[in-house]
Amino acid sequence: KQCRHELMYVGNLTVERLGHSQVITAVNGQFPGPKIEARDGDTVIVHVVNGSPYNITIHWHGILQRLSSWADGPNMVSQCPIRPSGGRYTYRFNVTGQEGTLWWHAHVSFLRATVYGALLLRPAPRASYPFPKPHREVTLLLGEWWNASVVDVERQALLAGGAPNNSVALTINGLIGGGDDEAYQQLTVERGRTYLLRIINAALNYQLFFKVAAHSFTVVAADACYTDPYDTDVIVIAPGQTVDALMRADADPAGRYYMAAQVYQSLASATYSATARALVTYQQVRDDDGLLAEMPSMPAFNDSATAQSFYASLTGLLQDGKPTVPLHVDTRMLVTFGLGVTPCAPAQTLCNRTRGSVAASMNNVSFEFPTAMSLLEAHMRGAPDGVYTRDFPDRPPVMFDFTSDAASADRAVMFTSKGTKVKALRYNETVEVVLQNTAILGAENHPLHLHGFNFYVLAQGTGNFNAHRHLHAYNLVNPQQRNTVAVPAGGWASIRFTADNPGMWIMHCHLDTHLPFGLAMAFEVDDGPTPDAVLPPPPPDYPQC
Ligand code: C2O
Repeated sequence: KQCRHELMYVGNLTVERLGHSQVITAVNGQFPGPKIEARDGDTVIVHVVNGSPYNITIHWHGILQRLSSWADGPNMVSQCPIRPSGGRYTYRFNVTGQEGTLWWHAHVSFLRATVYGALLLRPAPRASYPFPKPHREVTLLLGEWWNASVVDVERQALLAGGAPNNSVALTINGLIGGGDDEAYQQLTVERGRTYLLRIINAALNYQLFFKVAAHSFTVVAADACYTDPYDTDVIVIAPGQTVDALMRADADPAGRYYMAAQVYQSLASATYSATARALVTYQQVRDDDGLLAEMPSMPAFNDSATAQSFYASLTGLLQDGKPTVPLHVDTRMLVTFGLGVTPCAPAQTLCNRTRGSVAASMNNVSFEFPTAMSLLEAHMRGAPDGVYTRDFPDRPPVMFDFTSDAASADRAVMFTSKGTKVKALRYNETVEVVLQNTAILGAENHPLHLHGFNFYVLAQGTGNFNAHRHLHAYNLVNPQQRNTVAVPAGGWASIRFTADNPGMWIMHCHLDTHLPFGLAMAFEVDDGPTPDAVLPPPPPDYPQC
């Protein structure tokens, strides 16, 4: 077991893309930011120094943060921000029982658009992958690019009371590929070898299809949870999710091949489409011999059937052949979520006075981030008064038919209220949450991410969840485990987890544009009865508001 020390300096970086020079916020002068590598059992200690003009926090997406909720990172949930111009905070956490691909990103305003990087967890010494050792590992961070400051993009969206301006391009490892002499990420392979692609969707607002021309994949993990090997030629990945896939280099070595990431839009009326490309060539081929590269044939931008079949095909790899899903459920919740418009609050400065503001909600509560103190600090002080309330509802206020009745969907939005409401859980209780996507006007697939836990995805489907029809379809043997589930447009997903980690844990939509709109809630988990189940006090340099 090792301690891994890292230093992250957050500051300005000027980057040229699409013939335009843009100042972005970046870590250690790199875009994407530095890769962090650790082994299961290690302690990771990251010293963050904020030299940028913005408030910063860093989130270690998918790290379970056992007894280290203080290091989780979401702004005003686990901490106050690290202040501009020299603020510091040291994140310290253990990697316990986790292997695979995760990532880190800023968790305040839209800054994660450029403040992100890979977080790779390898097996402990003497342990190995549950699949043949690949010849090489290749990290592929998929992202979005704006010819603008992303902080301004967010401001504009809040002021307009609508969606933000679309990015102008997608990226693979920060590069757009193709078009007006945009540089390509290049991957040179050797025929007959197998490569482990560690694919991360760091895009702000779009799910993606990913393919490599003339090659196919075997998916072996998702969100740093091993899966049964699943063969496919297309990978579907929502913001926040990761996929580990083996790719065998078995195409004609004389050819050149594009790998491509392309927008998948569940919104039927969507018009945005973008593609990032990278180049795959074989070692045996001389460079630049004038060969055109082959483009993979991508699914249609709104091919939800392909997306759902990918998501529903994954199953979890059993350890020692034994199922681990908890069969007893203590708390059952039905959580609906969607988007609507509400009037501006009197004190709300970033709001369109005539149109109102977009209010995204869960069980008709639009989440408000506290301002005076983080949720976690208030929890530790045992003094939620004025910071949060413990009345997040287990069910929506009224049951609606989310599939057929536009008027009822409107009513679902009408009841939206604002608040900082959490759901309090006893230590070790088992929770099942049916996530019901209510949006039928502007139906859109929402990737919901839970901090602090991996959950089992027991089933997913379209239409209204119906216990009589759907409970028997639950996979209680080998469901996939994830930290982010893409809840189908106009559909549902059922997840289960054990609340064995004390602290404050946000669950939110990983389309970043929906976070300031309030598509979030938080679980408050009590300390357990034994000393090894008690959240320690905050670190001495814990930022204050
Ligand atoms: Cu990857 Cu709360 O985020």
